[in-house]
Amino acid sequence: MIPPKPAARAEKVSLWRYMRLFRQDILSAQPAKLYRAWMAEFRTPFFRSYLVNQPELLRTVLNERPMDFPKSDRVGEGLRPLLGDSVFLTNGATWQRQRRIIDPAFEGGRLRDTFPAMKAAGEAAVARLLDRQGVVEIEEQASHAAADVIFRTLFSIPIEAPIAAEVFHQFREYQRTQPILNLAAFVPVPRWMPRFHRSRTKETARAIRRLITELTAERQDAIAAGTAPDDLATKIMTTADPETGEKFETEEMVDQVAIFFLAGHETSASALGWALYLLAMFPEVQERVAEEARAAGEIGFADLSKLRFTRDVFRETLRLYPPVPMMVRETTRAERFRDRDLPLGSQVVLSPWHLHRHERLWDRPDEFDPDRYGTEKGRACLRDAYMPFSAGARVCTGAGFAMAEGTLLLAQLVRALRFERIPGDEPVPVAYLTVRAKDGIRLKVTER
Ligand code: HEM
Repeated sequence: MIPPKPAARAEKVSLWRYMRLFRQDILSAQPAKLYRAWMAEFRTPFFRSYLVNQPELLRTVLNERPMDFPKSDRVGEGLRPLLGDSVFLTNGATWQRQRRIIDPAFEGGRLRDTFPAMKAAGEAAVARLLDRQGVVEIEEQASHAAADVIFRTLFSIPIEAPIAAEVFHQFREYQRTQPILNLAAFVPVPRWMPRFHRSRTKETARAIRRLITELTAERQDAIAAGTAPDDLATKIMTTADPETGEKFETEEMVDQVAIFFLAGHETSASALGWALYLLAMFPEVQERVAEEARAAGEIGFADLSKLRFTRDVFRETLRLYPPVPMMVRETTRAERFRDRDLPLGSQVVLSPWHLHRHERLWDRPDEFDPDRYGTEKGRACLRDAYMPFSAGARVCTGAGFAMAEGTLLLAQLVRALRFERIPGDEPVPVAYLTVRAKDGIRLKVTER
């Protein structure tokens, strides 16, 4: 049984038709040959972009010379009203300084401190589903759970707290008004053409920032008064850059909180939704997860290492449905990749979506097989052909956090509940802000 995959386009199409297809869905707009190619070129009248799938070239861009391939400006265009100068969008010295302040909050030891808040969010998600049993829209539940994780770990408040609930509500609104914006680099729009952020989008971005500013300013005061809880926000706001001694001012912290919330909850929710669908599709795998979770007993941070199969299920989900399907960088000088010259200012597209399903790299690339990571080949692919969190200097800050969260929540949910498919109701993957199901994911949920 092959998990849902969008049909790729077989024939060559005109630029005009490509743009139309693209607007519908970036995944099915791409030609099927990208699942076999090492590199491909898209020429448009306005700029060139190159999709790179070859592991050595990916290493060059992400690990060896990341500063030569900064994030493309185009990526941020749609997101800037919301994210300002967040670490997700900045480049060069500003980005380096921001990472020096943020990274310590996500190190292993801190993850242990964050764990109880994550676990409480998982327990709340189980309780919500136990209440709702029957046919449930899973993406909505996954978003709720992932947003709860972020609020509890960042600000020590549950999603039910009025201000957290309002931020969550506004983000959903934002997403509806501004889809696929992180993939703007693909859309062949010339630079001189004015961009419009729809006024509704701008308004929503302002509302979200107002709420986050309130939270951040309150926290600033609590830190000054010595009453702040020891969570991620306090850690980040009290960490000084080891090189300059600077800390984040409220405004810059608001930018970071906005990206933690967006990057942290959208992505994890997408992965959790697909993981539950895959487990419903493969009931024998679901039973193994339930068994492993039961055997782990009361799960503490140290017990995460006992949930190896559950972790591999989450890993395999991130391979088949990487929440961030593509990333875009820009060349800062002329480059030569394989037998092609890339002029200065070219867009370099890195595609976890295609790399993870590459026919020359993976065995049975479209099949769901969490046991593959126990094999020599699977481990080699994990090293060379797997990058759901990107790689190198700009790797996702929350990668360790997200792996712990995904493994824990899956174990908690599947230990308490059974997830079953509804015949004929198969989700269709499309790339919105992250890889989502076109019309949601519905599953039958019952208590075990
Ligand atoms: C399954 C969950 C997640 C996935 C698949 C994921 C994936 C990614 C990817 C692919 C990038 C690189 C994007 C690019 O280079 O264009 C990224 C960056 C980032 N992620 Fe995550 N992420 C996840 C969860 C999280 C969480 C939980 C947080 C924080 C709480 C987070 C915070 C960030 C930040 C701050 C960046 C920007 C890093 C930089 O540019 O230096 N992510 N993420």
